[in-house]
Formats: sequence, C-alpha cells, structure tokens
Amino acid sequence: MPHHTHDGIDWSTRLHAMRRYGSLQSEALSAVARRLVGLLPDSPVVMDVGCGAGAMSVPLVSALREHGGGVLVLVDATPELLDAACAAARAEADGAVSVKPVLADLATEDPLSFAGPVELVWGSRVIHHLPDQLRGVKRLVEALAPGGWLALAEGGLETRFLPWDLGVGEPGLADRMAAARAEWFVSMRENMTGSVRLPVGWNVALADAGLGEISAFSFLVDHPAPAKHLVREWAVDRLTWLSEITSSRLHAADRAALRRLLNPSDSEYVGAREDVFLLETDTVHLGRRR
Ligand SMILES: C[S@@+](CC[C@H](N)C(=O)[O-])C[C@H]1O[C@@H](n2cnc3c(N)ncnc32)[C@H](O)[C@@H]1O
Repeated sequence: MPHHTHDGIDWSTRLHAMRRYGSLQSEALSAVARRLVGLLPDSPVVMDVGCGAGAMSVPLVSALREHGGGVLVLVDATPELLDAACAAARAEADGAVSVKPVLADLATEDPLSFAGPVELVWGSRVIHHLPDQLRGVKRLVEALAPGGWLALAEGGLETRFLPWDLGVGEPGLADRMAAARAEWFVSMRENMTGSVRLPVGWNVALADAGLGEISAFSFLVDHPAPAKHLVREWAVDRLTWLSEITSSRLHAADRAALRRLLNPSDSEYVGAREDVFLLETDTVHLGRRR
C-alpha cells in the first residue's frame, strides 16, 4: 500500500477506526468547534489540516452554520481519509457552508495556496507527523489572515480504557503498553527523513512561529463503563493498534495476554468486556497572528 506521509504509517488502513473514534469524540469536539468559531468574524474561512476521517470537520461545519456560514477547507495527504472527511462534512453542510477538499503534503506545500488567508487553522495530532514541526507551524501561521487564529490539538494525558488488573497476564498491561508506545513514538520521529527535534513546549513553538495571545485549554472525552457497544469496538481498534506498535517491545507474557484480549472467541475478548471505557484528555494550543 502506498504511504502518503513522512511517518511510515499507512493511514488509509485506519479509516474505519478513525471514524469510530471520531463519533466518540464528537460531543467534546462540537463544544471545542463552537468555542473556536465564536472567536471569528462573519463568513470566515477555516482550515482543518490533517483532517483524517473528519472527526473535527463535521463539528466545524455545524459551528460555522450556527455562526451564519463560511468556508471549510479540508487538507490531508491521504486520499481515502480526505474523501471520507469531505463526504461527512458535506452531509452536514447546507447552503451556508461550503467545503473544499485539498490533497496536499503539509511538510512541502504552501497552505496559503490552498485557500488564501484564513481566519482559523485547526490541526489535531498532525504536526507531530511532520519531519520539521516548527517549520510546519510557521507555514500554517503564514496562511493566517492578520488577527487569525491557529489552534493545535497536541498532547494531553495518556488515553485510558482498560482496568489495571485484567485477569489475563500480569496487572499493569496498559501502563507497560503506554511506556512501549512512548518508545515507538520516539523511533517514529527519529526514522523520518529530515526529522528535526522540537525541543520546547507548544506554547513556546507558537511564540517562535510569530504568534501572540497564546493560551491553551484541555477537553475531556469521557465514556465510563459500562460503555456502549461503540466504545468496545473502539477498544478493539485501540488495542489492535497498540499491539501492532508495541508488541516487539513487550515481554512474551504480555504478548500472550494481548492475543487473548484480541481473540473474538476468547472469554477475555476486549470487545465483549463490560469493564472497558474511554477516558481521554486533549490539549488545544491557541495563538493569534498579530
Ligand atoms: C493522527 S491522524 C489525526 C486525524 C485528525 N486530525 C484527528 O485528530 O482525528 C493524522 C492525520 O494527518 C495526516 N497527515 C500525516 N502527515 C501529513 C502530511 N505530511 N500532510 C498532510 N497530512 C498529513 C494523516 O493522513 C492523518 O489523516
């Protein structure tokens, strides 16, 4: 399968999982979209960069509709995801909001050429997939109109979804996977051609990119146990992905536990457990072009 990004990840295979994840985030993201669009003038142009399957694209369309209308530009390097985001956003839009998809690599292409100056750029979990993150942020800043806002969702707390003692293998599997995932993240960044470290926090990066009025807020996605079926399906997606990226770093006993948790015929199958949940906290870093 072709890879369209710099991170060695085939994002197209993640479409269904990203859609499920997006529906679980939609209530929280709708509040974030209303908060951000509320900062904007009438008929704004908004850009969702690295839009994925459209988790935030749909809430942004709804918020723009409530705001009286505007333009939403969707940017992603993975055609399958961009198509899905565009279809979902257009299904939510009416005559007042127009949706424009752009297939582009944020590491090399100039975002200004996609749309002209924009009043809000939203980028969730995409900048850390670019080889030079500060350069990527600076490109986005250049796309802003004077007074326009950049909102980056990056970082937060480790997403929790499993009990500490699963009754399969040794207690603490989720914490060992979190440590292994952090190691995977380091190697994902190091293995990108042209990878440059960003040795500061996001507030400093936004200031270094020339923004003012810098602030941050965090939001919660909370689906406690016993959770609806979609949360259990998401838990299978999440554990499958964690298993793919961490299993070479885990002890054999943890790998055996993962095989049981991911086997639909096993009594411990994570997709049938009543004790899985989703607790996630994400941080949005905000800055304004002077
Ligand atoms: C972790 S997903 C985030 C998706 C979405 N923003 C969300 O929060 O659900 C990363 C997204 O960034 C896209 N992406 C990664 N590198 C990119 C690049 N260089 N240019 C444009 N999009 C990129 C991927 O295709 C994927 O859709």
